[in-house]
Amino acid sequence: MKVAIVGAGSVGATVAYACLLRGAADELVLYDLDAAKADAQALDLAQGVQFAQMARVTHGSELGVCAESDVIVITAGARQKPGQTRLDLAEANARMCHTLVPELVAGSPNALLLVVTNPVDVVVRAALRASGLPPARVVGTGTVLDSSRLREVLARRCGVAVQNVHAYVLGEHGDSEVAIWSNVTIGGVPLARWGPSLGGMPGEDERRAMLEEVRQAADRIIAGKGATNFAIGVVAARVVEAVTRNERRVLPVTSFLEGYLGIGDVCMSVPAIVGREGVAAHIPIPVDDAELVALTASAACIRDACVRAGA
Ligand SMILES: NC(=O)c1ccc[n+]([C@@H]2O[C@H](COP(=O)([O-])OP(=O)(O)OC[C@H]3O[C@@H](n4cnc5c(N)ncnc54)[C@H](O)[C@@H]3O)[C@@H](O)[C@H]2O)c1
Repeated sequence: MKVAIVGAGSVGATVAYACLLRGAADELVLYDLDAAKADAQALDLAQGVQFAQMARVTHGSELGVCAESDVIVITAGARQKPGQTRLDLAEANARMCHTLVPELVAGSPNALLLVVTNPVDVVVRAALRASGLPPARVVGTGTVLDSSRLREVLARRCGVAVQNVHAYVLGEHGDSEVAIWSNVTIGGVPLARWGPSLGGMPGEDERRAMLEEVRQAADRIIAGKGATNFAIGVVAARVVEAVTRNERRVLPVTSFLEGYLGIGDVCMSVPAIVGREGVAAHIPIPVDDAELVALTASAACIRDACVRAGA
């Protein structure tokens, strides 16, 4: 399995590192316009292969190095500066896709495209249009990261391992995202029935504060170190693995929706079965009325951003 990573910056290099540690690919290639950076990152990674899973690490500043890939991870493009929102990047990063993606697909007609570049939902739409690929094969990391952030916050609050928390943040990977509280379970127990002796169910104010913490996470990390890379690195590697190992794993990736809970004509995150062919199916998740209203509004927000960005 050959995995190409387009953009060898903080995120691209960390995705590659996570793929290497997890054995997600047989060959990893790093492509970046900045030849010296691609070379340096690939050399640094290759020198750790002995202690990771066996993989060939190559690099280049010509798109041809990505040819014949099974998965292409797009991390190239502008990133948020402190004070900027993800949507501020929309136009530039959508434009980049219009030039980059057709050439990538020409070299790897059977590849799955995994977009990480922000604003991820808008960039997935731009990549889908530019690629001519079936919608199932153009996905984004979407709210896999936000769901993981919410699970971490809930695990801390309830005093359990994060692996025992099942919770989704769906919709936009951004300010309009929606926590599906009605569906949270911890160790198989619905959140609404979480034992009072264990802290009980968080009240409305506490839940609002938790979601705000999730929404603000990227800003807080960017303010402290300039970029987010570790969590998104493992998130993207997890999605890559679901594809390269044909796992049919349920992940809230961004993909094109047509009539999901009445929502369509938008690329956004809902739980999907992800395997070798990309998104095999979307899973209709039970939501309450308020959550459905919020998801519908989030979809409208992404659609507007796509129109403004020409995605
Ligand atoms: N989806 C998410 O959850 C998530 C999380 C973190 C970061 N991001 C996004 O990932 C993107 C990358 O972030 P970063 O911190 O790695 O930025 P970075 O500046 O460190 O790296 C970007 C790299 O892209 C390269 N590049 C730019 N245009 C290119 C092109 N046309 N072809 C090839 N390479 C090109 C640059 O040379 C640079 O090395 C940003 O859009 C950021 O917002 C998304």
